[in-house]
Amino acid sequence: MPYIKSSFVQKLLDRVDIVDVISSRVKLKRSGSNSFTCCCPFHSEKTPSFSVHQGRQFFNCFGCHKAGNAINFIQEYDHVPFYEAIEIVAEMANMEVEYEHGKGTIQNQFQKKNYTEIMEATVRLYEQELFKHKEALEYLNNRGITRETVVKYHIGFAPDNWNFIRDSIAKNNINLQNTLKELGLVNEGQGGRIYDVFRNRLIIPIRDKRGRTVAFGGRVLDSSKPKYINTKESPIYKKGYELFNLDYVRKLGKDEYNYVLVTEGYMDVIALDQYGIHNAVASLGTATTTEQINILLKQTDHIKFCYDGDAAGRKAAWHVLENSLSEVEDDKVFSFCFLPIEHDPDSYVRTYGVDKLREEFDKASSLVDYISSELASRYNLSEISERIRLLNEAAIIASKIPDDAIATKEALKNEIARIAYTSKDEVNIIFNGKKAQSSQEKEVQDLTRNLVNAKREVTKYQWLIAQMVRNPHFYAQIPNPDELMLLLKKYSPERIEVLERILNTIKSKQDITTGSLLLVFQEEPKVINFINYLISLKEESLSNDFNIKVVDLLQNIKDLLLEALSNRNEQLMAKSRQNQQLTHEEMVEYDFLCKKIHELSA
Ligand code: UTP
Ligand code: MN
Repeated sequence: MPYIKSSFVQKLLDRVDIVDVISSRVKLKRSGSNSFTCCCPFHSEKTPSFSVHQGRQFFNCFGCHKAGNAINFIQEYDHVPFYEAIEIVAEMANMEVEYEHGKGTIQNQFQKKNYTEIMEATVRLYEQELFKHKEALEYLNNRGITRETVVKYHIGFAPDNWNFIRDSIAKNNINLQNTLKELGLVNEGQGGRIYDVFRNRLIIPIRDKRGRTVAFGGRVLDSSKPKYINTKESPIYKKGYELFNLDYVRKLGKDEYNYVLVTEGYMDVIALDQYGIHNAVASLGTATTTEQINILLKQTDHIKFCYDGDAAGRKAAWHVLENSLSEVEDDKVFSFCFLPIEHDPDSYVRTYGVDKLREEFDKASSLVDYISSELASRYNLSEISERIRLLNEAAIIASKIPDDAIATKEALKNEIARIAYTSKDEVNIIFNGKKAQSSQEKEVQDLTRNLVNAKREVTKYQWLIAQMVRNPHFYAQIPNPDELMLLLKKYSPERIEVLERILNTIKSKQDITTGSLLLVFQEEPKVINFINYLISLKEESLSNDFNIKVVDLLQNIKDLLLEALSNRNEQLMAKSRQNQQLTHEEMVEYDFLCKKIHELSA
């Protein structure tokens, strides 16, 4: 947690209500006196498995196992880092973020608000300017862009003036000029001269998914170079995370589109919108990133990428394919559409009309078909050595697809076997030899997958973790928790650090909520994911209404302890049965264990 005081985070979580925070993003339905539900915003589903627990200040999904507190929700939903989520939640709660002394960033809330205001003022200035410039209006007219579209997308014009934005917004104000610089609207030249970045260009505002302008694209009116310039990354703009037009797509009803179309240019999106295709977005001057794909998958189960049929388009598509592999799931669809060479969606729709374009979209290849046809075109399949190289390349691709995407992987194997004139067994052998690198994420997956594979049976230890996190208030009713920890540390066959840290945290703040409790693990994704997974299991034994009786908890603790102590007891007994002398310490220990076991079984 850089810069922000951790005591502030705790204060913030004490102050806000997770129900208000989540309600600001999705519509919740009451499901109990203290709980709410809705369809999970993090995976697609038809019956709700997402719950918000008001008393616990905690949410979880029994389907995708996402869980956490109010800040974590904003992190996930808005796709922002932890510290930024804190700022968003603090703003909702009307609280001033407290920074560590000396380390505080100047980027405080005042500044943040300032950014938004300056961006909106800039949009208006460029918009007003458009109607004063005949050449710009003529350009739009020649491209067939209607006035309605101009208004909808707030298209504007930057006059051929080095000081337009600088002087309209920040004349003689050094602070404001610095802010303009941070936002990428002006540059600083030699000798400290500040000048406008956009001059004599058509201006297209780039909005984030909440509709706030975060950047601009500027196009020349003629054929000079560079054709487009875009604002650089800034405190409010990370291009790999933003998608042009996503805010409008998000406003569509789910039944208004079957997929989200990803194009290369924002002018494509604008043209398509004018022709009645409203479900398009564009990445911003780079190949669509894994993060953008992730963001889109929250919006749709089907992403259709559309590219030029030329070499550059094919290259870009392949790059995007590589970025999507780690996100492949059997119930998500990725498809790839290639337009005839020399056409982008904008030029195609103008030349052939919208119906023909839709036909092109319908012809898109599935992920598996695209991979296999692309690979087939790269190798001379009449040569054995080339076929082997193809198999090796296919194996690397397959290794990047998550193992749970079983159907997709099988389909890929079948296709690869077919094009390489070989058997699926051989493909299997080659694919199995190329295992993906195990990253930390993979470790988490393995940890949780073990849980799934072990017939979803949670151990007593895991059960206890889940229930203590769900019900921290039960801590007060555990007889002698310190002794419990001591004994478990000494005798439990499992490592119990996680439980120990949970109990210690509750000990230090007995009225802690589930949501706050998890702050301890905030910077350990592995642990937090494991716990979230555990408490979102829909097991019989982990009754999913979250409410257990304290007697059950105490019984579990007893059983857990009994198991641990009996184990050790048996070891000692076995030793003495084999006529090995127990040491004095062991005798004492044995007596102690017998006494404890007797107590516990009483
Ligand atoms: P294109 O060159 O395909 O643009 O670049 P386009 O959308 O067809 O534009 P028009 O129709 O000629 O007006 C696609 C995207 O690549 C980025 C922009 O984001 C653009 O939307 N790009 C392109 C740049 O950033 N700089 C450039 O010089 C060109
Ligand atoms: Mn174009």
